[in-house]
Amino acid sequence: MIHTDQICKNVYFVGVNDRETRLFENLWPLDRGVSYNSYLIVDEKVALFDTVKNTKMDAFIKKIEGILGDREVDYLIINHMEPDHSGAIKDVRQRYPNVKIVGNSKTFGFIENFYGDLSPYHEVKDGDTLSLGKHELKFFMTPMVHWPETMMTYEMRQGILFSGDAFGGFGSLDGGIFDDEVNLEFYMDEIRRYYSNIVGKFGPMVQRAIKKLKDAQIPLHVIASTHGPVWRKDPSCIVNYYDRWSRAETEEGVVIVYGSMYGNTQKMADLMARRLSEKGITNIRIYDASKTHVSYIISDLWRFKGVLLGSCAYNTGLFPAMQTVVHKIENSQLKNRYLGIFGTASWSGGGVSSLKQFAENIKWDLVEDSVEAKSSPKAEDLEKCALIADALADKLIAERGEESAPC
Ligand code: FEO
Repeated sequence: MIHTDQICKNVYFVGVNDRETRLFENLWPLDRGVSYNSYLIVDEKVALFDTVKNTKMDAFIKKIEGILGDREVDYLIINHMEPDHSGAIKDVRQRYPNVKIVGNSKTFGFIENFYGDLSPYHEVKDGDTLSLGKHELKFFMTPMVHWPETMMTYEMRQGILFSGDAFGGFGSLDGGIFDDEVNLEFYMDEIRRYYSNIVGKFGPMVQRAIKKLKDAQIPLHVIASTHGPVWRKDPSCIVNYYDRWSRAETEEGVVIVYGSMYGNTQKMADLMARRLSEKGITNIRIYDASKTHVSYIISDLWRFKGVLLGSCAYNTGLFPAMQTVVHKIENSQLKNRYLGIFGTASWSGGGVSSLKQFAENIKWDLVEDSVEAKSSPKAEDLEKCALIADALADKLIAERGEESAPC
């Protein structure tokens, strides 16, 4: 049998696609699916890197058997214990009863809590190595990318980094597995949506992990994450993207998000978008918070520096769909954005005042006084909206030329 999913000699991709699950973590839409990536090194010893979600274990075990035949798996390396990767550990142990599970001191606590006693374990610490024969593995502890036990495993002979969630993203692998086989424009959107919603909160830890890899001065010829494409043509591309996202670096552009029951707050959003365009801003994304899932909004908020948030009042408070957006932003601890606030009050206020409170909490740069129209925007309200848009455009244009392309 010819294995077209070899990463290099004796190193195989044994991941699976999930196009059935609607919500990742039962929260985030998987409109374009997701892959759970696992890898196999066949040497004097056989090592398997992470597993897959339990709904996919049959296909997964068959893939491994297809490569190994009668051979055993000697080591199961667990870089991350979230069940989308650890879900088939018990099945691997059942199929390969002599397999030794490799992890760090935190890994085994998660295993016991999720699946019970699966010893024997082989514990590794930061910088430890493990020989498979010709291939030697080195372990890097990278806590909180994305859980406390997360680590990365580096294969020293070929320069392959098995990076866990880091450098991964949404999107099933529909034929292409490698970065040079797929349409990266599609995947970069899905990778940013994954990063911003799943890993984004842990930006400082991502920075620490990237620094640790740089300080180790290891050549990264291949980056093999647990989700999304395997990076063999340009691994530095995805490292650069994760680096810039975790430093809250942005592109020029504005995300306008509004909650509007009867279209009055929406009118203000449209006016501001037009004004931004007239001032020369070309990246403008408008989202009705009631219609678009917050994960897509968060993804664009991670990308662009300018943010305009608008809300009508709803029962003396913020419109519920906007509440979801604001809560997710606060939870993500997204930093370093320009902000403008607009909205409407009717028999009560509460929308704009809640957004102003949010602005104080998040400490973004408020570009101009907020505007709150009574029920519907009048000429003077729209003039104030234009002032917000102008101030935001001026700030963005003043920073032109400071951005650099990640790839
Ligand atoms: Fe893909 Fe944190 O699991």
